[in-house]
Amino acid sequence: MTILVTGGLGYIGSHTVVELLKNNFEVVIVDDLSNSEKFILENIEEVSGKKPIFYPFDLRRKELIHQLFDAHHIEGCINFAAYKAVGESQEKPLDYYENNLFILINILQEFKNRNISNFIFSSSCTVYGQADEMPIHETTPLKMPESVYGKTKQMGEEIILDFAKAYHKKISLLRYFNPIGAHPSGKLGELPLGIPNNLVPFVTQTAAGIRKELSIFGNDYPTLDGTAVRDYIYVVDLAKAHVAALQKLIASTEDTVLDIYNLGTGNGSSVLEVVQAFEKANQVAVPYKICDRRVGDITIAYANATKAEKELGWKADTTLEIALKTTWQWQKYLESRN
Ligand code: UFG
Repeated sequence: MTILVTGGLGYIGSHTVVELLKNNFEVVIVDDLSNSEKFILENIEEVSGKKPIFYPFDLRRKELIHQLFDAHHIEGCINFAAYKAVGESQEKPLDYYENNLFILINILQEFKNRNISNFIFSSSCTVYGQADEMPIHETTPLKMPESVYGKTKQMGEEIILDFAKAYHKKISLLRYFNPIGAHPSGKLGELPLGIPNNLVPFVTQTAAGIRKELSIFGNDYPTLDGTAVRDYIYVVDLAKAHVAALQKLIASTEDTVLDIYNLGTGNGSSVLEVVQAFEKANQVAVPYKICDRRVGDITIAYANATKAEKELGWKADTTLEIALKTTWQWQKYLESRN
């Protein structure tokens, strides 16, 4: 079965491609390399021993998508292609709406016109905002996200739900908590553009001496140690959830499937706990200072991920320390390439 993976050279995309290949799916990747590099494709081949088909183009180009669907018998799609920097999304809202929503609609149009089902969307826990209950269930009410990026995820979900209901399609919305870590081979991982916004890439670059010190954004939150709490999920566990969600869609005999899953570990870790776990796992110091809170940050978010466990037979069980070890291994690999 051939699966289109948009953004398949990105951080979560590349790990998911490896898992799809392992499970004997044929993979067609489209990625415009706006947040990745060509060597990731070579490394996917090295790690998986298989060669995915790759097209480097911008998925806003409808005519190219049309040609792609003419050329390949695509039977499903995992849509990772999207801009994802929260801060940047506030400065360039139109770019975010155009890129993230037009790409999505362009692909859904092909699905509609060609009678294809099985569509998986990269969503985010950002759709819950600061939830009123913890842990967060799939039924926890959504709130208006703080960022334009978050709004593109919430709008994307609504577009897909309407699409599935009107045209009788099988879809799965996967709400990721905070993905971290790298492939155990040390050959795939996150490539942060410029100064990292996210915690773990910044911690890693600080340990490597690329950044002087980590700024911890706030230690006056109502949490155990005053720093904000998130649910950090290992990227390979996350990648495996995509395969499980896809297999469930394919196996379903219903013509319409509307699946929504929280993908997290079910455990919250504070910023300080992440720093300490990184230091312990890698025997390296992470200098930090405490700063003001970052605008738009929530206090706490962690998943109840039992629905995914029950329905997909999937569970994120890699520990924070093991995930952070792989991050460090990936950093060493990147340094060895320079
Ligand atoms: N943090 C720091 N210092 C840093 C970076 C982050 O203290 O240099 C803190 C943040 O304040 C936050 C925690 O580390 O408390 C995690 O921050 P990240 O930026 O790694 O992750 P977020 O939870 O803010 O962002 C994640 C996803 C986004 C999504 C968002 C929704 O990465 O895609 O959740 O809340 F939009």
